Amino acid sequence: MLVTTKEMFEKAMKEKYAIGAFNVNNMEIIQGIVDAAAECKSPVILQASAGAIKYARIGYLMKMIEAAVEEHPEIPMAIHLDHGPDFETAKMCIDNGFTSVMIDGSKYDFEENVRLTKQVVDYAHSKGVVVEAELGKLAGVEDDVNVDAKDAMYTDPAQAEEFVKRTGCDSLAIAIGTSHGAYKFKGEAKLRFDILKEVKERIPNTPIVLHGASTVIPELVDTCNKYGGSLPGAKGVPDEMLHEASISGVSKINVDTDLRLAMTAGIRKELVEDPSVFDPRKYLGPARELIKETVEHKMRDVFGSSNKI
Ligand code: G3H
Ligand code: 13P
Ligand code: ZN
Repeated sequence: MLVTTKEMFEKAMKEKYAIGAFNVNNMEIIQGIVDAAAECKSPVILQASAGAIKYARIGYLMKMIEAAVEEHPEIPMAIHLDHGPDFETAKMCIDNGFTSVMIDGSKYDFEENVRLTKQVVDYAHSKGVVVEAELGKLAGVEDDVNVDAKDAMYTDPAQAEEFVKRTGCDSLAIAIGTSHGAYKFKGEAKLRFDILKEVKERIPNTPIVLHGASTVIPELVDTCNKYGGSLPGAKGVPDEMLHEASISGVSKINVDTDLRLAMTAGIRKELVEDPSVFDPRKYLGPARELIKETVEHKMRDVFGSSNKI
C-alpha cells in the first residue's frame, strides 16, 4: 500500500532499525527494489530526484509505482522526492501524488534554509504529505577542503534542534561524514557517531536520515572493472557502520550509487560474456536481478527492516 513515511518511521524508531530509501529511474530499478521488499517483507521508500523525474517523466514514474503497489498491496511503500531543489518542484510532486518530499536547502544559509523549508512544510502538510529537510553539508573526497572547513560542514546539533522547531519538518538529513557517489573516503571510512548521538538527544522524536550511504559494494565495483569499467579507488560506507547507524537512531538510509553499480555490473557482464547479444531483455533482466539481490542484502543483513511490515 502507498503510505507516507510517518508510520514507517514511528515503528522504525521504536524497534531500532532503518528503512532503505532507494533511487528509481526506470522500470527495472523499480521492479528490482520492490521485488526485494516483497521477498524480505520490508517497508520501502522509492525516491526520485529532479533529474530522475526529468529522465523518466513523472507520469511514467507514478504509473510504474502504482503498478508496484497493486502487485504488492501488503508492502508499505512511500514515494518520495529526493533533494527537492525548490518550492515549485516539491509542489509539483505533491500535486502528482508523492507521499513525501525532501526540500534540500542545505546550499543556503541557515535562515534561508529555514524559510524555504517552512514554505514547503506549510504546503505539504495542508495536503497530508510529509517533509524531509537537510542541515549540514555532505562533502566528498572530490571536494578539496581542509580539515577545519570539513568540520564546519557537519551538522551542528544545537542548530538541528532550532531548525526542526522553527520549520516543523517531519524528518531531518544530517551530515556526519558521508557523501554522495562512489568515492566517499580517501583513507579509512569514518563517521561522526558522536554528532548523531547528540542530535538524537536533542530531537529524539525526529527521524534522522543518512544520505550518501551506499557501501560501494566491492564485488560490484570489481565486476564493473573486470568487464571493461574504470572505477579505481571507489569506496563507500562499510555495512557495519550502516548497521550501527540503523540501531542508533537513523531511520532512513539513502542508496543510489549501489543500485547504479549493480545495474552497470549486470549489463557489462552480460554484454562482454556474449558479444552476440542485442536483445535488451538479455542484459536488463540479469541487471534487475542484481539490483534485487543488492537491496535484499541491505534490508535483511544491514538495515534490519526485514519482516517489519
Ligand atoms: O543524491 C543524489 C542521488 O544520487 C540522485 O542523483 O540527481 O543524479 O538523480 P541524480
Ligand atoms: P549514494 O550516492 O551514497 O548512493 O547516496 C544516495 C543519496 O543520498 C540519495 O539522496
Ligand atoms: Zn542524497
